[in-house]
Amino acid sequence: MNYEVIDIRTVSSKGKGALSYLEIGKDILFDILRVYYIYGVPSGTKRGGHAHRKLKQLLFCPYGSVEIIMDDGCGRESVLLDRADKGLVVLPCIWREMKWISEDSVLCAAVSMYYDESDYIRDYDEFLRYIRDGEINGIC
Ligand code: TYD
Repeated sequence: MNYEVIDIRTVSSKGKGALSYLEIGKDILFDILRVYYIYGVPSGTKRGGHAHRKLKQLLFCPYGSVEIIMDDGCGRESVLLDRADKGLVVLPCIWREMKWISEDSVLCAAVSMYYDESDYIRDYDEFLRYIRDGEINGIC
């Protein structure tokens, strides 16, 4: 499936916690044009329920625990973001849902495009049609 789990580089200082960092061109292989974060979501709640046509995303959860459920039209896989030094790169043509495991979790996204509603596919049947056609014409 079109995703990758990455270890975010982290410097730990004895008795003083840790610092994690990402460098564009080294850790993230696409340019970042936008950063957003989602928080204050009651535990058990699912957000998402959409796919992107072109957007590439790096998701990470610096605090808490969020399950990312991904669907490529053939099957579903999930990744638990439960450590501040774990990242998930999600490429286009993947339907995703995000389930809040603990309410105080913060889900951050560093993404390749400005916000553009026309990049979203919010209907699952439309998503299935998009990837079927996309496989034929090389988009997905
Ligand atoms: P959405 O991406 O649908 O969030 P989720 O999938 O987590 O439910 O975005 C929720 C709302 O926020 C929607 O009205 C679009 C808006 N939004 C922006 O205005 N800018 C942004 O960068 C993002 C990600 C969303």
